[in-house]
Amino acid sequence: MEPLLSLLCLAVAAKGSHCLWLAYKFFFRPGKDLRQYGEWAIVTGATDGIGKAYAFELAQQKLKVLLIARNEEKLSETAKELTAAHGVEVDQLKVDFSNFDQAARDAVKAKIKDLDVGLLINNVGLSYTFTKYFHELKDSEVADIMEVNMTSMTWMTRLVLGEEGGPGMLARKRGAIVNTSSGAARTTSPLLAEYSGAKAYVEMFSMGLGAELASKGIHVQVQTPLYVTTKMAKIRTASVTVPSPKDYVSCAARQIGYEALISPWWAHSLQLWALNSLPEVVAVKLLNMQHQGIRKRGLKKEKEKAEENKKGQ
Ligand SMILES: NC(=O)c1ccc[n+]([C@@H]2O[C@H](COP(=O)([O-])OP(=O)(O)OC[C@H]3O[C@@H](n4cnc5c(N)ncnc54)[C@H](OP(=O)(O)O)[C@@H]3O)[C@@H](O)[C@H]2O)c1
Repeated sequence: MEPLLSLLCLAVAAKGSHCLWLAYKFFFRPGKDLRQYGEWAIVTGATDGIGKAYAFELAQQKLKVLLIARNEEKLSETAKELTAAHGVEVDQLKVDFSNFDQAARDAVKAKIKDLDVGLLINNVGLSYTFTKYFHELKDSEVADIMEVNMTSMTWMTRLVLGEEGGPGMLARKRGAIVNTSSGAARTTSPLLAEYSGAKAYVEMFSMGLGAELASKGIHVQVQTPLYVTTKMAKIRTASVTVPSPKDYVSCAARQIGYEALISPWWAHSLQLWALNSLPEVVAVKLLNMQHQGIRKRGLKKEKEKAEENKKGQ
């Protein structure tokens, strides 16, 4: 009986200390001084949602910020707001990541050539308009989801790293790269197959690269949010499980430089743990039910909109 009791005590103690560790990690662990990586931060998809919140958070931490997104007007507006709020140097570059071709990559390269870029927030991403069967997506959507989620992140990473002899993080031997994944990358996601696969690429690429670059002074982290109240999520009201971009980012920025893979909002982390603790078949059934519901509502809205447009003609 005694060894059994000792084992039980050990298990309880281990569980207890793990919970304490998690509480420390999510609520008390101090964030790194992000200026240690360099003067400038780049944020992709910086004019809305999580990206815009990141730009504000980093400016508040007195980093100079290069905003990249596809809409010049929104870029100028965001740059103006940032400068007014935090008085830091802000620059902007218009890039459409659904076509991140050689010319667009050269434009980024030229823009950052003389900047001490310490931090890259690879935030830009694109999901379905609503959950659908893969075969229901338009060809353009299939292409854009790969381009915006995978291609842009991969090339942006390469551009800030530079080459060992040339300008860039590798030459400076310091830097941090944060890539943005999604909870969809961690579970089998029916009706979100391509987005989920693209984000799984983001996770595995980041983990491999992080291990590769650890000895070169460059930290790579992948952050995995679940729902956040942005236009992508189409949720307006924040709650414990669906934080606002500002609340999410204030936690996410504190985690930069620590674990290679993290879901920075504690309730998201808990949800992922719960989902992954279920037998796979149950988790998939639950997600399928949820995604079928979203698809049904999405199709209904699409139909109503088409009818309204018809009437308006
Ligand atoms: N929100 C969530 O619930 C959630 C959950 C899991 C993962 N994520 C991930 O978190 C990241 C940020 O998502 P979010 O919800 O903040 O998105 P969002 O609110 O839709 O904002 C996306 C930002 O990216 C820009 N953008 C979109 N397409 C672009 C393109 N082709 N080229 C250049 N810029 C482009 C947008 O500019 P415009 O304003 O011009 O469109 C905007 O600034 C994404 O990687 C997403 O996959 C989000």
